[in-house]
Amino acid sequence: MPPGALSGERLPRHIAIIMDGNGRWAADRGLERNRGHLAGVESVKEIVRCVHDLGMEYLTLYAFSSENWNRPDTEVTELMRLLEVYLSENIEEAQERGVRLRVMGRLDRLPDATRAAVDRAVESTQDNPNGDLIFALSYGGRGEIVDAARQLIRAAELGEVDPDLLDEKTFAAHLYLPDVPDPDLLVRTGDECRISNFLLWQIAYAEIHTTAVMWPDFRREHLEEAIRDYQSRERRFGMTSAQVETGMGEGGAGER
Ligand code: FPP
Repeated sequence: MPPGALSGERLPRHIAIIMDGNGRWAADRGLERNRGHLAGVESVKEIVRCVHDLGMEYLTLYAFSSENWNRPDTEVTELMRLLEVYLSENIEEAQERGVRLRVMGRLDRLPDATRAAVDRAVESTQDNPNGDLIFALSYGGRGEIVDAARQLIRAAELGEVDPDLLDEKTFAAHLYLPDVPDPDLLVRTGDECRISNFLLWQIAYAEIHTTAVMWPDFRREHLEEAIRDYQSRERRFGMTSAQVETGMGEGGAGER
């Protein structure tokens, strides 16, 4: 294998990305923040293709957090517009590639037109078998956990769940997309090192890769660098190296 080439072994099955740095990318060029978001869409397109080309099954992108509703109206409106345009312009490619588009978050807060575009994209790709592209939209990890707790309390009131028997598996079954395996690799761009309320439950055992690259500059080579970093890690899921080496580490806490 040539030096620096990406090994096809131990590829992450699920990558989650906090796409940060659009605003600073724009400011560095004397542009409006929204121009950074527009440039960020190009990175989304490239990374979605790369993940699919590499054969990874799940990509989750933090497209709009529950806290992002507090941004200026003009920015929120532009982010919703960009999402609608992205969905209308890229659905055909998703169909050709057989990619299933999914969303997670409090979608009832989305403007009607955005919600309609999201629903159309999700519905028209729902049977696609070649991987999931998941947009976290109006999403917050704490909100997701609260929503799961609310469902569980209701189920307990109806006698469908016994609180004494509640375990992590049952709890996780009430999260937004319970069939999706936990991310193996969490990438954050934009030179920041925090979680920002993203997938709080699911990243319990994710490997974390941060980069100073701003999201609009993030390209295939940066994704490959993140994957190489992931491949260099030993995932122990709370066990010892010796246990992992003898195979006891298979199917650890990261699976659900
Ligand atoms: C963070 O950058 C990014 C966002 C809040 C939204 C991400 C949106 C896109 C990549 C474009 C549209 C998305 C889709 C899916 C079509 P920031 O604004 O917080 O950057 P800053 O920290 O430099 O201010």
